[in-house]
Order: sequence, then C-alpha cells, then structure tokens
Amino acid sequence: MALLVSSTSVVSLLQQRKTQMRRVSASESVSTLKGEEKMKLGGSDLMVSKLGLGAWSWGDTSYWSDSQWDDKKLKEAKAAFDVSVDGGITFFDTAEVYGTSSPGSVTSESLLGRFIKERQQNDSVEIAVATKFSAFPWRFGRGSVLCALKNSLSRLGLSSVDLYQLHWPGILGNEGWIDGLGDAVEQGLVKAVGVSNYGEKRLRDAYNQLKKRGIPLASNQVNYSLIYRVAEENGVKAACDELGITLIAYSPMAQGMLTGKYTPENPPSGPRGKVYTPEYLTQLQPLLKRIKEIGQSYGKTNTQVVLNWLISQGNVLPIPGAKNAEQAKEFTGALGWNLTGDEVAELRSLAMEAKPVVGFPVQMS
Ligand SMILES: NC(=O)c1ccc[n+]([C@@H]2O[C@H](COP(=O)([O-])OP(=O)(O)OC[C@H]3O[C@@H](n4cnc5c(N)ncnc54)[C@H](OP(=O)(O)O)[C@@H]3O)[C@@H](O)[C@H]2O)c1
Repeated sequence: MALLVSSTSVVSLLQQRKTQMRRVSASESVSTLKGEEKMKLGGSDLMVSKLGLGAWSWGDTSYWSDSQWDDKKLKEAKAAFDVSVDGGITFFDTAEVYGTSSPGSVTSESLLGRFIKERQQNDSVEIAVATKFSAFPWRFGRGSVLCALKNSLSRLGLSSVDLYQLHWPGILGNEGWIDGLGDAVEQGLVKAVGVSNYGEKRLRDAYNQLKKRGIPLASNQVNYSLIYRVAEENGVKAACDELGITLIAYSPMAQGMLTGKYTPENPPSGPRGKVYTPEYLTQLQPLLKRIKEIGQSYGKTNTQVVLNWLISQGNVLPIPGAKNAEQAKEFTGALGWNLTGDEVAELRSLAMEAKPVVGFPVQMS
C-alpha cells in the first residue's frame, strides 16, 4: 500500500513537473513572440508593439455610439483593452478630443488611464500610450502644447506618455507647437513626439525643426488602408521611409468596411453610412471577395489580411479600433505571417479599381 501510494505520488509528481515544464515553455514562447512583435518608433528609442489599438470609440457619443455611452459599452471597451494586452498589443492611441466633450463626462483618455491602472494592479506589463494635442486655431505658441499635455496626463492619471502627437496641422501656429513638442521631450513628459495628418512639406519642416534640437520626429499618423492610399500618392509614405519616421496607419480597416461585415444590403448606420453608401459597398465587393479567398488560404480573416497588407508595406504601424474583446482578439492574428509579394500587389490593383473614398476622415496637407 505504502509502495502503491508512493508510486502514485511519483506518477503525480512527474505529471506535475511535465505540466510545469509545459507551462514554462508555453509562457516562454509567448514572451518571445511578444519580443519579436515589437518595433522601434521612428528614430526614437521607444519600442512599441507592431500593431496598436485605437481608442477613438471609447466614451464616444457622436460618431461611433449612436449618442449613448453606457455601462455595457464601458465593460466591452475594458475587455477589448485586456484582450489586446493579453495578445501582446500594448500600444494604445487616444486623443484629448476623443470621447464625450461635455464637462465631467467620459473621455477616451480617462477610460484608457483607468484600464491601465486596473490592469497594472496585478500585472507588471508595460503599456505604451500615445495621445494627441488638438491644433485648435485659438491655441498659440509652445506653452499651449505643454498646457494641453498636462491636462491629458491628468485625465490619463499618468506622469508621462510615450508618444505625443499634433493631431492635425494648423493654418498658423505649427512652428510654435513643434517647439512645444520639443519642450515636452526635454521636460521628460513624453518619450517621443509625432504629428498626424501632415502632408509631405509640413512633415519635412517639422522633422528639420526638431532635428535642430536633436529630437527625432518619430511618427506621422495618417489615414491609410487598402482603399485609402493617399499617403502613397502624395509623397508622405516615401518621405516617412526616407527620414525614418514611422507611418502610423489610422482607420486601417476603412472604419470596418474592409472586415466584410458591411454589405450593400447591410450598410453601416450613423455618419459612416453617408460615406460608405450601398453604391460604394457594391463596387467594393470584388476586392472583399479576393481578400476573403486569400485569407481562407492562410486560415485568416479579412481583418487579419487587410492589417497584414499594411504591415507588408514596411515602416507602417496600423492602429485598428476595437469596441469589444471579439474585435480586438482578431487583431493579433494579423502578425506572425506574411502575404506574398504577388498577393500584396494583386490586392492593391483590385483596390485601385474601386473609386476613391471621399468624406470623413479627410487627409490634410
Ligand atoms: N489622427 C487622426 O486624425 C485619426 C482619425 C481617425 C482615427 N484615428 C485613430 O485610428 C484608430 C482606428 O481608426 P478607426 O477607428 O477610424 O477605424 P478602423 O480601425 O478602420 O475601424 C474600426 C471599427 O471597425 C469595426 N471593427 C473593428 N474590429 C472589427 C472586427 N474584428 N470585425 C468587424 N468589425 C470590426 C468597429 O466598428 P463597428 O463594430 O461599429 O463596425 C470599429 O470601431 C482610432 O481609434 C484612432 O485612435 C486617428
């Protein structure tokens, strides 16, 4: 009996060790994968995941959420955040204008700050936060950038952010704001700085102005997807590649249109419905059909194919938006594999047959 007990114990001990060994190797492979899936942001020292998550819809009551933000949406956004972090997506993009703007209401920044705080109570995971300065015409000079940044930090509950971006160029005031970005780096309030919606000339000017202070312009965040390739046509992508500036691709799934969930019979509601009409969705069908076929050959979804297509362009960091865990979970599957060069070219030429999207969001120069 004693022998029986002890042999059972030995077997169970061996099983435990085997399980532990399996656990160790599984966790090692996850952390290796996470390490490999990081990239340097432009010429800065900041390392971020090769895919980010956009938090525009969090707290929103105008563009995305049919004028309601409620507890259900809050829980879903939190689940999207957690699933992303679990999958190694740890770069989050927000802005001071995202979310409900009325006083005391929910903002995307405050939600993101809350999710990070809750997560870091039991997890030492590093999260990289990017937020943006709204280039309102009444904001003048470098001081306005520091002032807005400090308000963002207060909403986020952080002492610094990883990336601070000018959300759009102003008609006037750009030089002062660029000086403000440099001041934010020098004061240790941000690790890296970038711009958004900048055309080639303004991008080069911003790059040169910061370079004089020894500060790299890390990124330019622009609208870029298979069906919105203006950055390829207006010199922005080429300038980013030449200067070592990461192109952060916003609306990478064309606000959901490239996922295949919207059809001429089931167009999106709300403001998106005005841009992506049934007529527009009809002419998108051949492209969507081919995206699906290619995806099936790899066991991937449309979403994963279109994000992979962007990554295949090189020097591009897509930041898809997710409202819930199910959507966010799909994004990690865009990494760790590659479309062939022929597939990348075929999808571009099919996309060129679709007429260009007009309407929001617009690309500025
Ligand atoms: N700098 C700028 O000016 C600027 C402008 C726009 C966006 N951005 C940034 O870029 C981020 C992403 O852009 P975006 O939100 O405009 O467009 P997007 O990422 O192309 O599309 C996001 C939308 O697609 C749908 N979706 C997401 N995952 C899905 C999935 N797996 N399956 C099916 N549908 C899915 C969701 O909407 P539904 O479920 O309602 O369809 C989601 O809100 C924003 O959050 C923001 O951080 C920046």
